[in-house]
Amino acid sequence: MTRVATGRHYLMCPPAYFEVSYSINAWMDPDRPVDRDRAVAQWQRLVDAFLELSHKVDLVDPVPGLPDMVFAANAATVVAGRVLAARFRNQERAPEVPAYLEWFRTHGYPAARPASMINEGEGDHLVTRDRILAGRGFRSAPGAHVEVAQFFDRPVVALDLVDERFYHLDTAMAVLDEQAGEIMYHPEAFSPASRAVLAELYPDAIRASAADAAVLGLNAVSDGRNVVLPATATGLVAQLRERGFQPVGLDLSELLKAGGGVKCCTLELHDA
Ligand code: ARG
Repeated sequence: MTRVATGRHYLMCPPAYFEVSYSINAWMDPDRPVDRDRAVAQWQRLVDAFLELSHKVDLVDPVPGLPDMVFAANAATVVAGRVLAARFRNQERAPEVPAYLEWFRTHGYPAARPASMINEGEGDHLVTRDRILAGRGFRSAPGAHVEVAQFFDRPVVALDLVDERFYHLDTAMAVLDEQAGEIMYHPEAFSPASRAVLAELYPDAIRASAADAAVLGLNAVSDGRNVVLPATATGLVAQLRERGFQPVGLDLSELLKAGGGVKCCTLELHDA
């Protein structure tokens, strides 16, 4: 099968103040040292990979004292040019919202507004042509998907996450082709009811092994052909190749210490 890439627009934030100084997920251990220079180099390599694939990358200025601001995916959900900013569950990340809102309002999204319900942006919202898949259970509030459905006027499917290692939807699932509705995911990260919903909606999905999920292999970004993901997810790399995708394996091991990877660092601006 021939896969066709389409040009993408991403918003990212340099990890200039990245560190693990608090713990708000199962991956974060403030006693484990982080090499910030290495994190910056790994992140830059991700930016370069997107630029080499001819995607557009915009940058938001990092703010001192906000070590998780590098995880841009959490800041907002952007569909058809409309921006619903996040409302973080943890106070540590709350000040990221005004910083990102300021960027949106001054870069062509004057109507960007904060959400009323707790939701962590595209960390928990994965967008396809037909619907928005919405994770909940650890971060986004149980009713957040209702606000999202109203705001974007799209069907939203709420999915319950049950494994604390996979606390955002984008740690357990990735959209590979939003036009065709092709996804990859790790069934065990979801409740039995949500697993049944996914099996029904996406019978042909790539299912990730426990080993690939455990290195956040599903925290990936696809342009319809090229799939940027952690190189350590070797099983997924092979499964993607079999389906005609072009895997691009990277090392984001420093950012993984905060529980983040490729997709967490990448907020896709779905402008159309
Ligand atoms: N340390 C961050 C947090 O716990 C990591 C966020 C990862 N982002 C994501 N989209 N999964 O909030």
